[in-house]
Amino acid sequence: MQSPHGVGIEAISVCVPRYWLPLTALAEANGVEPAKYAVGLGVEGMAVTHPNEDAVTMAVEASDALLKRYDIDRHSIGLLVVGSETGVDAAKPIAAYVHGLLGLPFACRTLDTKHACYSATAALALARDWCAGSGRGRKALIIATDIARYEVGSAGEPTQGAGAVAMLVGDHPSVFVFEPYREAFFARHVMDFWRPHYRSTAIVDGPASVESYLAALESTYADFERHSGLGWDDFEYLLFHVPFPKMACKAFKLLYEREVARRNGSGMTQALGEAFESRTVPSLWPNRAMGNLYSGSLYASLAGLLERGDGSVEGARAGLFSYGSGCCGEFFSGRVGPDAAAWRGKIDIAGQIKRRTRLDYTGYISFREQSARLAEEGSHTGGAVPGGHFGRVAFLGIKDHQRVYESSPRPAVSDTPFLPAYNASAHTGK
Ligand code: CAA
Repeated sequence: MQSPHGVGIEAISVCVPRYWLPLTALAEANGVEPAKYAVGLGVEGMAVTHPNEDAVTMAVEASDALLKRYDIDRHSIGLLVVGSETGVDAAKPIAAYVHGLLGLPFACRTLDTKHACYSATAALALARDWCAGSGRGRKALIIATDIARYEVGSAGEPTQGAGAVAMLVGDHPSVFVFEPYREAFFARHVMDFWRPHYRSTAIVDGPASVESYLAALESTYADFERHSGLGWDDFEYLLFHVPFPKMACKAFKLLYEREVARRNGSGMTQALGEAFESRTVPSLWPNRAMGNLYSGSLYASLAGLLERGDGSVEGARAGLFSYGSGCCGEFFSGRVGPDAAAWRGKIDIAGQIKRRTRLDYTGYISFREQSARLAEEGSHTGGAVPGGHFGRVAFLGIKDHQRVYESSPRPAVSDTPFLPAYNASAHTGK
C-alpha cells in the first residue's frame, strides 16, 4: 500500500575528507592565473583524501554520522546500495565492506551501482521503488562515495575532489519527498570520461564532456516538463550535478535561455544572474570548498541547500539534474520537508569544512603517492600513516590480496539468529 507520506529521504549526512588543498596553491604550482580556477571554474578548494581514506572509509564515516545524528535503528535497514566510480575491487562491492563495518543486519540486500557520477541517482531510484513496494516499511541506505582524481598537471586536475553522502530512504520522508512524476532519462554511448581498470586516474575529453552534459540536461528537462506539466515558475530551486560550480552556471543558463526563447523574450520576472543567485547558488557552497565528489556532487548540493537554507527552503520544490559520463542523465523533482528541525544541525558540512587541515602542494603530491603505494598487494605492514587515525575507520593497506580496515569501535554482531555470527576480525586481517 502506498504510504500517505510518500517516499523520500528521511536523513542525509556528508563525509568531508580531513585535508584540502586551496586552488591558489595548485594554480601557482601549475603556472596558471588563480582567477582561472576561482572564477573560470568557480572552485576555491578541493578535498584531498589521506592515504588511510578510501571510498569505503568515507562511505562508513558518512553513514555512521547519519545513524547516530538521526538516531536510526540499523535493524530497520533492508537495502544498502553504494553508488561509486571508485570501486576497490572488480567483484566485491563497496557495499559489502560497508555492511560489515557498520554492523548492518544479515537480512539486507547489498550491492553497488556504477555509471560514473550518475550511479547514486540510479541507487536512489532503486530505493524509491523498493520502499514504495516490497520494502514494506523497511529503510534503504543509499551512499554516494568517490575520489575524483586526474593526472597531475592535466586540465582536469583543478576539478578533483572527494567525499561521500549517505541518505536514508523510506516512507516517512521528513527531509526530501520525491514527487511522483515520471522521471526523464537520456542515455548515449559517448567517450567523454572513463577510467580503465588499470588506472587510478580518469581520462577525459573536457569539451566533449561539457557538451554531453548539456545535451543530456536539455533533453531530460524538456521531457520532464512535457510529462509532469511543471515548468520554470514551479521550481524554487534547480540543483545540478556539479563537477565544478561553473558547470552549474552553464547548466542554469541553458535552462534560463530556453525559457526566454519559449516566452518569445518577454515575461521573465528575474534577470539571469538574479535567478541563478536565488535558485542555484544557495546549494553550491559545499562544491566550491570540496571540488568534485562525482556521484555525491548533486547530493552534497542538496545537503548544502538544507544546511544553509533559511525558513523559505521548507516545503520548496527543487528540480534535480543528475549526469554520469558515458553517458546517462536524469531530471526529477521533489519537495523539501516542511520542518527544518528534522535536518538542521544534523548535516554539519560547514563544521567539517572548518575543521579540515590545509595542505600545501608538496603535501598533496605526497598523499597521492602514498595512496598509490597503499593500493598495492603487500602494502599492509602495521598501523596507519601519520595523521591517519582520525575517524571511525581507516584503510591500512592490502595483505594477502585482502583490504585491511581498522574499525573503532568494532561493529556489533548482527542479530539474525540462524546465520553464523559476524566475525569482525575478518575485516581487520588480524
Ligand atoms: N580568469 C577568469 N576566467 C578564466 C581565466 C582567467 N584568468 N582563464 C580562463 N578562464 C575561464 C575560461 O574562459 C573558461 O570559461 P568558460 O567555460 O565560461 O568559457 C574557463 O575558465 C575554463 O577554461 P578553459 O576552457 O581553458 O578550460 P580547460 O581547458 O582548462 O578545461 C575543463 C576545463 C574542461 C572543465 C577541465 O577542467 C576538465 O576536463 N575537467 C574534467 C571534466 C569535467 O569536469 N567535465 C564536466 C562535464 S562531465 C561531468 O560532469 C562528469 C564528471 O563529473 C567528470
